[in-house]
Amino acid sequence: MPITAHSTPNIALIKYWGNRNEELRLPMADSLSITLDSPTVEITIDHADTLAVESYEIDGTKKILTEKQLTRFAKHLELTKGYLEILDLAAAIPASVSIVVRSHIPPSIGLASSAAVFSCLAKAYAGLIQPMKELTLEETSVIARLGSGSAARSIFGGFATLDAGEGTDIDTACARQIAPESHWHLHDIVIVPNHDEKKIGSTEGHALAGTSPHFAARIEAIRTRRQHECIDAVLKRDFEKLQAVVEEDALNMHHVMETSTPSLKYLSNDTHRILRDIIALRETEHLPVLYTMDAGPTVHLICPDEAVAAVRAFAHAQNGCTVYETKIGEGSKLL
Ligand code: PMV
Repeated sequence: MPITAHSTPNIALIKYWGNRNEELRLPMADSLSITLDSPTVEITIDHADTLAVESYEIDGTKKILTEKQLTRFAKHLELTKGYLEILDLAAAIPASVSIVVRSHIPPSIGLASSAAVFSCLAKAYAGLIQPMKELTLEETSVIARLGSGSAARSIFGGFATLDAGEGTDIDTACARQIAPESHWHLHDIVIVPNHDEKKIGSTEGHALAGTSPHFAARIEAIRTRRQHECIDAVLKRDFEKLQAVVEEDALNMHHVMETSTPSLKYLSNDTHRILRDIIALRETEHLPVLYTMDAGPTVHLICPDEAVAAVRAFAHAQNGCTVYETKIGEGSKLL
């Protein structure tokens, strides 16, 4: 019987950048994110003799997948089967699968579409395996991680960490929830300066992180301080503390990216202008709002309920930018 799941992206507050094992996407350090409530991805999966992947755009038109994208799904299936063997579930997927992806996410604009796709796919695999065993959410997050590290966090709603763990075993890093979506009603107002495709995607980017002379210090700071501070700020709903640590971490990740070889410059002039203007606005109006950017020029403005109207007005006043409004969400689900 075909199984359908849906999922959404997440926005990282402490960023995942750099792996200790590229193939298994085992991260060097912990990360932490807010799962968003939109835009959604829907995936239908079923048993098949050979792997077949179809993908549809927002308007229903069929997307031609590149060789690289198809290889990623094939690799993900191979790794998933390897993990299922360890769980004594090799018989759960005896041959292969057919996968149909329906994405409502514009590609490569800084709303992590791979996180939504692979968390959704992992949830769908969990549904397919369900007649043999109910996977835990942590186990499901391992399957998500094998396709995109950050996808592990979107298995959960609310606030989730991806715990790096230690060693090189496939299941040494998994996600967990630190607080549900009801804990703190945060909003993410997303400002997209342009729709250019990313030059270097995050999969290739992770492999370059270690070439930056500032990478080791970044990992040390997350391990010894930043992740704890961020968890603490979330649990106490301390927005000022959250803002300080989230912005420090985002700027530090971009510093590592820019000082790697080759240099990865994801932020544009528009990004820097938006940052300058929001910093000025929050100072004059005492607004609780923080900024963060992933591997692209898109600015995420995160704020509690009381600041939404002002942040929304600011976002819509940005010339030539697309604005996307999203809230904290409930994570991946079987339909
Ligand atoms: O999951 P990946 O391989 O697409 O990496 C995500 C990297 C960042 O978005 C930049 C940071 C993060 O933690 O989401």
